[in-house]
Amino acid sequence: MKKIAIFASGGGSNFKVIYEKIISWDIPAEICLVISNNPSCSAIDFAKQNSLPTFIVNKSLYPDSYSRDTILMQNLLKAEIDLICLAGYMKMIPENIVTYFENRVLNIHPALLPDFGGKGFYGMKVHEAVIQSNADESGATVHFVDAKYDHGPIVAQEKVNVSADDTADSLAQKVLAAEHRIYSKVVKAYCEDRIVWKNNQPRIEVAIEN
Ligand code: GRF
Repeated sequence: MKKIAIFASGGGSNFKVIYEKIISWDIPAEICLVISNNPSCSAIDFAKQNSLPTFIVNKSLYPDSYSRDTILMQNLLKAEIDLICLAGYMKMIPENIVTYFENRVLNIHPALLPDFGGKGFYGMKVHEAVIQSNADESGATVHFVDAKYDHGPIVAQEKVNVSADDTADSLAQKVLAAEHRIYSKVVKAYCEDRIVWKNNQPRIEVAIEN
């Protein structure tokens, strides 16, 4: 069974969907750590309510970046984490962690990368930019994390239509529903060792039914 660390800063709806699929035995994994920079976010509240171990790391608690990165790494190693899932985490993942956990850190982004990604494209800003561009589709992307924002190898995408009367808010809702579907699908595939690499590109292998 894979050991997962969730990183979240906000509502944590993606985290909650993954958690529900784990406790219903759909995803063969265990959430061993929930990490946040924000001690009072809903994701941390949810983790505590469900007795999941939490760890808070931010500048107030660890002013110096080296101590911050080191303590985070120590916690991940101590929990013997196999997979890190970023689920609305608003901070950059330290380089030591990206390097050590190469191809073991997943992120969900609320647009069809490489469009509307990179520095400055987060939260509602993404949806506002999509609406302003008059694009007729958007969607969600799950990708492995590398050293650049929203840049690593893409594992899965799901498109949603942008209709003429969509606002950033209505688009966010449609995309979030797609996020919940594809993130849990990718995490499940990872935990079942069904992500295969060819020419440095990951792909999900279809599960074989028994
Ligand atoms: C999602 O839109 C995700 O794509 C982005 O942050 C948001 C987090 O939502 N990275 P939630 O906290 O999982 O509800």
